[in-house]
Amino acid sequence: MASPKKIKKEAKETAKVTAKDLAKKQREISVSEFFTKNRHLLGFDNPRKALLTTIKEGIDNSLDACEEAKILPDIKVQISNIKKSEDRFIVTIEDNGPGILKTHIPKIFGKLLYGSKFHTLKMSRGQQGIGISAAGMYGQLTTGKPILITSKTSPKMPAHHYSLVIDTQKNEPRIVKDEVVDYEVKRGTKVVIELEARYQKGRQSVDGYIEQTSIANPHADITYINPEDKEIRYPRASKELPIEPKEIKPHPYGIELGILIKMLHDTKSKNLRSCLTKDFSRVSTRVADEICEKAGLHGKARPSRIAVQEADALFKAIKLTKIMNPPTDCISPIGKNAIIKGLQKQINADFFTSNTRPPSVYRGNPFQIEVGLAYGGDLPEEGLIRLMRFANRVPLLYQQSACVVTESAINTSWRNYGLSQSTGALPSGPVLLMVHLASVWVPFTSESKEAIAHYHEIEKEIKLALQECGRHVSTFIKRKKRAAEEFKKKLYIKKYIPHIGIALKEILDLNDKQEQKIINNLTDVLERSRS
Ligand SMILES: Nc1ncnc2c1ncn2[C@@H]1O[C@H](COP(=O)(O)OP(=O)(O)OP(=O)(O)O)[C@@H](O)[C@H]1O
Ligand SMILES: [Mg+2]
Repeated sequence: MASPKKIKKEAKETAKVTAKDLAKKQREISVSEFFTKNRHLLGFDNPRKALLTTIKEGIDNSLDACEEAKILPDIKVQISNIKKSEDRFIVTIEDNGPGILKTHIPKIFGKLLYGSKFHTLKMSRGQQGIGISAAGMYGQLTTGKPILITSKTSPKMPAHHYSLVIDTQKNEPRIVKDEVVDYEVKRGTKVVIELEARYQKGRQSVDGYIEQTSIANPHADITYINPEDKEIRYPRASKELPIEPKEIKPHPYGIELGILIKMLHDTKSKNLRSCLTKDFSRVSTRVADEICEKAGLHGKARPSRIAVQEADALFKAIKLTKIMNPPTDCISPIGKNAIIKGLQKQINADFFTSNTRPPSVYRGNPFQIEVGLAYGGDLPEEGLIRLMRFANRVPLLYQQSACVVTESAINTSWRNYGLSQSTGALPSGPVLLMVHLASVWVPFTSESKEAIAHYHEIEKEIKLALQECGRHVSTFIKRKKRAAEEFKKKLYIKKYIPHIGIALKEILDLNDKQEQKIINNLTDVLERSRS
C-alpha cells in the first residue's frame, strides 16, 4: 500500500493539470478520423461485413444514379480474390449510369460527408454522403491501396480515370493519378476498391444481398461474378423504371425548434408569412396567417429578427394548427405487380400476394409500406418463415432483431391466418415475407443503415399491410386444405365403387355390362365433383 505522504504527493501532481495543459490537447477531429476509429458505425466491423458493405454502397449508388438519369440499370459486380491464400479482394462495380463530372470525382470518392442526397427530401437509397468514400477509406486502411474510378458522361466525351486516397486528417482527397483513358462504354462509372475482407456464402452474404436487390429492383439487370469466377445473371423482369420521386420541402410538423430557428435565419424570404409558405410544404397563406396569429407574431415580421422566444411560440403554434399531410409524390413504391414479378423471378412458390399501403407520415416525413408474400412450393415446410427487409429498395441483412419490421411481424397474430406461431417469435411455415419501407428519410438506427427505428406510425402501417397479406394467404391455405381433404375422400370413395357395383349386381340381378355402366356412372359423378 502507498504511504499517506506518497498519496498526497500524487494528488498534488494530478491537480497540477491546468486548463492551459488541456487546451494543448484540444483540437478538431476530422470526420474521416472519427470514422476510422468507429468504422463499425458504418458497417465495417469485420472483414465479412466489410465486403458486403463495400458492394452495397457501390450498387446503391449505381442504382440511384441510373434512376435519377432515367436509365434502365445494367450493373456488373465482380469480386476477385487476388492471392487465394490471403483475405484480400478486389471489388469492381460498374454501371451504365450518367457518369460523374471530372471536377466532382475527387470529392465524391475522397471526402466523407459529400453527396447530392443529404439536403434533398426525396426517396433515394443513399442519404448521408458517406457511403462510397467510407468504402474507399476502409480499403486504403487495410491494404494501403487507392480507390480507382473511371467515369464517362457522354459517348462524345473522353473518359476520366482517377486514383485517389483520403487524407484522413483533413478529410480531403489526395489525387494519386488523373488521366484520360479509353473506356469502351457510352457512359457510366466504374469503381474499383481493394480491401481486406472475407467472402462467405449464405443469406447474410454478398450473394444474398445481390439476390434480394434483384427482387426489390425488377427493373435492374445485374451480372455478378463471384470470387470463384462464376458468373450469376439476374436479368431484369420489368422494363419499367420506377416512377421518378419528386423533391419536397420539409413539412412543419417534422421540424424541430433548432432547425426552425436556423431556417428563419437562413431564409431568402423577406417576411415571416412568405418564409412559412415558400420554405415549407403544405403551408398556404391562410395557414401561415393562422400560425402567426396563434404565435402572436406579425406575418410581415422579418424572419431573421425573430428572437428565440418568439421562435418557440411559432414552434408551438405550428403544432396547434391543422396542416395537410405532406405530398407523397416524393416516394416511389415498388408497386403491387412489380413485387410479385420480383418474387416470382427468384422464388418457386405455389402462391404469391402483395400489398402497397397508402402513404402515411412519421415526424413530418412521408413514407409508404409494401409487403410481398410467397407461400409453398420450394419454401421449407419446417422452421421459421424467411423475412426479407428492405428500405428504399435496399435489402437490410443485419440487425434483424433491432428492426421495427421484425417486431411488427412478431406482433402480428399469424395464427388467425392459418400459420403456427409461438409467443414472441416469427411464425413458422413455408413462407417468404418481404417488407419494404419507402421514405424520403429512412429512420435507421445507425449510420450503417441496417435496421429501421421504432416509430409508432411505421409499426402500425407494417402491421396493417401484413394483416392484409395474411388474409390472402389464409384463404389460399384454407382452399388448399379443403382440396386436400376432398382428394382424400375421393380416393376413399373410389376404392368402394367396384364393391357397390358388385353389390348392386347381386341385389338387382344385373348383367356384367349393366354393372360396368353403374361403375362408370359413379366414377363419372365423382370425377365431375368440385376438386
Ligand atoms: N455511380 C455513380 N454515378 C453517379 N453519381 C454517383 C455514383 N456514385 C456516387 N455518386 C454521387 O456521389 C455522391 C456521394 O456518394 P456516397 O455514396 O458517398 O453518398 P450518398 O449516396 O449521397 O449517401 P450514403 O452515404 O447514404 O450512401 C452521391 O450523392 C452521388 O451524387
Ligand atoms: Mg451512397
